[in-house]
Parts: sequence; structure tokens; C-alpha cells
Amino acid sequence: MKPKIDYKTREQVAYMREAGLVVADIHARLAEACQPGVRLVDLDAISEQTIKEHGARSNFKGYYGYPATVCISVNDTVVHGIPDEYRLREGDLVSFDCGAYVERAGEQWHADACFTAIVGGAPAASADVRDLDALTRRAMWAGIAALAKGKRIGDVGEAVEDVIDEATPVLGWQAGIVEEFIGHGIGRSMHEAPDVLNYRAHGRQPKLKPGMVVCVEPILTRGSADVTTLPDGWTVKTRDHSLACHWEHEVAILDDGIAVLTAPDWGASGLAEWGVTAVVLD
Ligand code: MF3
Ligand code: CO
Repeated sequence: MKPKIDYKTREQVAYMREAGLVVADIHARLAEACQPGVRLVDLDAISEQTIKEHGARSNFKGYYGYPATVCISVNDTVVHGIPDEYRLREGDLVSFDCGAYVERAGEQWHADACFTAIVGGAPAASADVRDLDALTRRAMWAGIAALAKGKRIGDVGEAVEDVIDEATPVLGWQAGIVEEFIGHGIGRSMHEAPDVLNYRAHGRQPKLKPGMVVCVEPILTRGSADVTTLPDGWTVKTRDHSLACHWEHEVAILDDGIAVLTAPDWGASGLAEWGVTAVVLD
């Protein structure tokens, strides 16, 4: 049986925006701090401190026992990297996936988003690092735009695959799509219905309707999309040690369009290229 989708009111979406801005602020501070030589544990401390300053709470720490407030996944780590003593190096491809919730009207309202950074800036990195990052980010925005232009949740995966298909002849390689991890609804908890697949789905997909809030989060690889989980029970790596990249935003579908709750500009800049105007709620 499929779990039921919880449709949010505009007021509830506004609570979720508050949590979304906490996550956006964590991202901004991590983006600035992820320089060569910094330890991953120090970046987790920045994330934890930011959540605290906003009077919010971490939804990652303690989630099935997860020990940190942010997942930091470097190079061939796909998702759920646990911050450790590793010091970042110039040219590393690093994803920062984190979340927070606020309590409003006696309930929890969650946010969850992920961005990828190239340590030392794009020129410091290999062409593969730059191209995989740009491609994954583009796939995410195409998927988000599909929520505005499409009819069903499955249109997200179509859009992701279209971006890859178009890029393959230009890049000379085909990105893998990791299928083990998918996007999801979000609201009173971090993971809700519906599933948001990053690939062309078989079978009927839920209709896009106002009040849905979902995370769009493609994870692409430079090589095979096969992954393996390390004995720590969390760290997921590509089996062939190829690079992996992850981008995620949280998006509300409203009567008058879509709003990206984890983007400070509501998604305006990311969506412009796709001919979509983001809804601004305040
Ligand atoms: N942020 C992940 C997602 O996008 C979930 C992380 S699980 C945690 O769905 F345990 F690491 F928090
Ligand atoms: Co997510």
C-alpha cells in the first residue's frame, strides 16, 4: 500500500520556509568554510552551531543513530559520509547534505537540502569534477522545473534523464544515476510520501497537486552507478570508485506555481533558464 501524501496549507509552507532558510544558512556557511586543510568534523561543528543560533533542531543527528548534523561525502563517497578527521584537499568534490526542523503550532516542520562544492574553486579541479558537478546541478534544476511544467511526479525523473541524454554526446561519457537513493515528500517528518525517482519510472506516478512539498535530489556518477555501503553502516561509495555528486532542494507546489523553500531567492535564479518563475511567498 502506498503511504498517503500530506498536502500542506500555505501557512504550513511558511513554517517550512523558516526551516528551509536555516538550511540555506548552513549551506552558505559551509560553502565559505570548505577550504583546503579544513577537517570534516569542523564543518559539522559549524552546521551544529548554525542550527543552534537559529533556535532550530537537527533532524539528521540521531536519525536511525546517525552521529552528525550533516552528511559530508567526498569524491567517490555517494551519500551519508560521516564527518571525520579527513582534511579537505584542493580539487575535492564534496557534497553537504543537511537538514533542520523548527517547531511551529506545536508540530515539527522539516527542511532538507544538499549542495556540492569543489574545494579551492572549479579551476583547481579536474574536468570530470567540474562537468559532473555542473551536470548534477543542472539535472536537479530540470527536475524542479518539471514540477512547475509537468503533470506527475514521474516527470522529475524524465527531466533528469533528458539532461543526461543531452549531455552525453557533448561530454563523451554517460553519467550513472544512482537508483538506491531517491527524493521524497517532506513536512512534519523528513521523509514522507511520495517517492521522487531520479529515473524514468514504470507505472503510474502521483499527480502533481498544490500543497505537495518534495525534495528533488539526483545523485549522478562519472562511472558505474553501482554502490556499496561500508561496514560503518552509513558511508555509501561507488563500487568502481568513480566520482559521485548530489544536489538537493526542497520545493513546494502551490496554486500559483512552485517555490524552492531551501533557496534564499525561492529558486528564481536556478529556474530562469527553464522558463519558470518562482513563487515568492512573503
Ligand atoms: N538527507 C537525506 C535525504 O535526502 C537523509 C539523510 S539520513 C541521515 O533524504 F541519517 F543522514 F540523516
Ligand atoms: Co532528502
